[in-house]
Amino acid sequence: MLARFCAAILIQLVLLQSAIAQTRTVLELKEGWKFAKGNQSQAYQTNFNDKDWQTVSVPHDWAIYGPFDKEIDKQVVAITQNGEKKATEKTGRTGALPYIGEGWYRKIFDLPALKPGQKATVIFDGAMSEPRVYLNGQKVGEWNYGYNYFYLDITQQLASNGKNVLAVQLNNVQESSRWYPGAGLYRNVRIEVKNDIGIEQWGTYITTPFISKEIAKVKIKTKTAGKDLLLVTEILDANNKRVSIDTAGAKFGNEFEQDLVVKNPMLWSPETPYLYKAISRVYVKGQLKDQLTSRFGIRQISYLPSTGFSLNGQSRKFKGVCLHHDLGPLGAAINIAALRRQLRILKDMGCDAIRSSHNMPSQEQLDLCDEIGFMFLAETFDEWAKPKVKNGYARYFNTDAEKDVVNMVHATRNHPSIVMWSSGNEVPDQHYAEGVKRAKWLQEIFHREDPTRPVTVGMDQVKATIQNGFGAILDIPGLNYRTKLYEDAFKAFPQGFLLGSETASTVSSRGIYKFPVMEYKNKQYPDNQCSSYDLEYCDWSNLPDEQFALIDDKPWVLGEFVWTGFDYLGEPTPYDEQWPSRSSYFGINDLAGLPKDRFYLYKSRWNTKENTLHMLPHWNWAGREGQTTPVFVYTNYDKAELFVNGKSMGMQQKSNATWLNRYRLMWMDVKYEPGTIKVVAYDKQGKAVAEQSIVTADSPNQLVLEADRN
Ligand code: GAL
Repeated sequence: MLARFCAAILIQLVLLQSAIAQTRTVLELKEGWKFAKGNQSQAYQTNFNDKDWQTVSVPHDWAIYGPFDKEIDKQVVAITQNGEKKATEKTGRTGALPYIGEGWYRKIFDLPALKPGQKATVIFDGAMSEPRVYLNGQKVGEWNYGYNYFYLDITQQLASNGKNVLAVQLNNVQESSRWYPGAGLYRNVRIEVKNDIGIEQWGTYITTPFISKEIAKVKIKTKTAGKDLLLVTEILDANNKRVSIDTAGAKFGNEFEQDLVVKNPMLWSPETPYLYKAISRVYVKGQLKDQLTSRFGIRQISYLPSTGFSLNGQSRKFKGVCLHHDLGPLGAAINIAALRRQLRILKDMGCDAIRSSHNMPSQEQLDLCDEIGFMFLAETFDEWAKPKVKNGYARYFNTDAEKDVVNMVHATRNHPSIVMWSSGNEVPDQHYAEGVKRAKWLQEIFHREDPTRPVTVGMDQVKATIQNGFGAILDIPGLNYRTKLYEDAFKAFPQGFLLGSETASTVSSRGIYKFPVMEYKNKQYPDNQCSSYDLEYCDWSNLPDEQFALIDDKPWVLGEFVWTGFDYLGEPTPYDEQWPSRSSYFGINDLAGLPKDRFYLYKSRWNTKENTLHMLPHWNWAGREGQTTPVFVYTNYDKAELFVNGKSMGMQQKSNATWLNRYRLMWMDVKYEPGTIKVVAYDKQGKAVAEQSIVTADSPNQLVLEADRN
């Protein structure tokens, strides 16, 4: 009793002290950077004159300012993944923006000289690419992969007079990417000063191995440096109320392991994104040495043949999208408002999951997914040792892959949104015996660093992976497209389920409609656009509806990640060879984030809280009078009647006749006449419940722009 009382007093004392002592200083390096392009071989030196350089703030993407140029990263290649056999000229494959070449950043910052027993690190959330980092004229380290988080110890190189110059050299080479990668310090950079004694970088690892209605067990492993440490960890709920606290004195190697109990836990899910905080405090002889806050969620995931994927005990299928990291016209520089806007649009569509194709997501995006509620499939690589492009990640795979995986897992594993890892996308290694070994090797690294989440690979060479064992060893076999092989793969693989790791790749341009309306593969038009009747796709891809049918009919399909949620810079298929196309057509939303018609097809299926009734095309077809102009309706209602200027075009009802009939209402024989088209939707009892009209527009009168935020 007395011992407990004393312990309680001790805890109160140490907590009080921690409110006073400051253990870590974080210097965000955002404003006042100097930047120049080109070879600046002397720029690492302290006395280098950068007066004429541009002043920029970081995050910064040096290439997004343009201009677009057909010659940039022009490639004469056959894109073998797309089934091409002959090399042809590809313009715009990586966005035709000036990202190739060297770029240098310099930042002068003040930092009081370190006290004995302190250390400093510089942390990059990513730098595109091949960053070489110098402090006060000395090289402190480097990292090759532009998408990864990394940190460097700069204790030795910091200036004793407090005046420091950080210089970062970046270099992007030709043919190193299949999309626009951005350029420069496009993610955040910070310096952290802390005591030698304390928690290591990304040193907390929080899992929730047991959850019931009454309690959740929260396991917190904390890697620390130093001897005779006392670790006090408290858990706060979303109102900052303490719900659990524990003191630990015994280390296992350099790691503490604590099991805390949270009573009546609030569980994290996309629908209830409830977050807790763990505050870890490290003491030596009653003195606070370090303090770190880690956010986490309490949630349980399982993947079983009988129930598929379950979150908190409830089976569900992923309603996911793949995203590249660029933000369209804003480029690759991290922009929280733009990321939040993307997520708001996806949430409205009913989407509940995101795959960061084909690389590490930003911390900001993960934070937002934790807060707004999205599950996350975090991916690492588009290449292993076998290249897809001449200068891709294959150059580094053998030397860097392990440390790249380790950094990603350590930096992101406390995010409750992450429910699966991916070690690769359509890696050509799938074909080979060494590839099978690589798949196993990588998966084991993930398991070692985080035994709580399964690993997938997005596979396109399904037949090869069935034969050579590649697919069988994965925790989760992921199929990219290849809808015709789902049954075979399911039968051949031992896992008992499959994931649609990448689906659809339907192509469309917002507001563009082509006639006659029919299904096409690789269709090209003279205006470099694709039709928004949503019937066009590529050799390897398919219509959304075909994937819907697979997901609805096969309980063992875990859901899908559509290619893609938003259009992105680069990869302008089916116009890879047609300048000036230089951004994708795959997006459900366009490059500016405006919904295409397809948005409503997904919404009608995914958003179960709102009714969807969306009609297309527009009704301004001067010159098409009397010609066949089909009308499509994307809706969650079963049937609807269409009227053209008050005349009924008949009732359409969803049916199993074809995939399209199953998920769309289509009036194929409508003849255009100016005026009003109206659709009236009926419920199962035959009651008219909703309607929508489109009117032939008069000449424009005014344009109104509204900001969606202040
Ligand atoms: C996939 C690939 C994606 C993208 C997509 C276009 O095969 O994984 O990165 O290229 O095709 O359809």
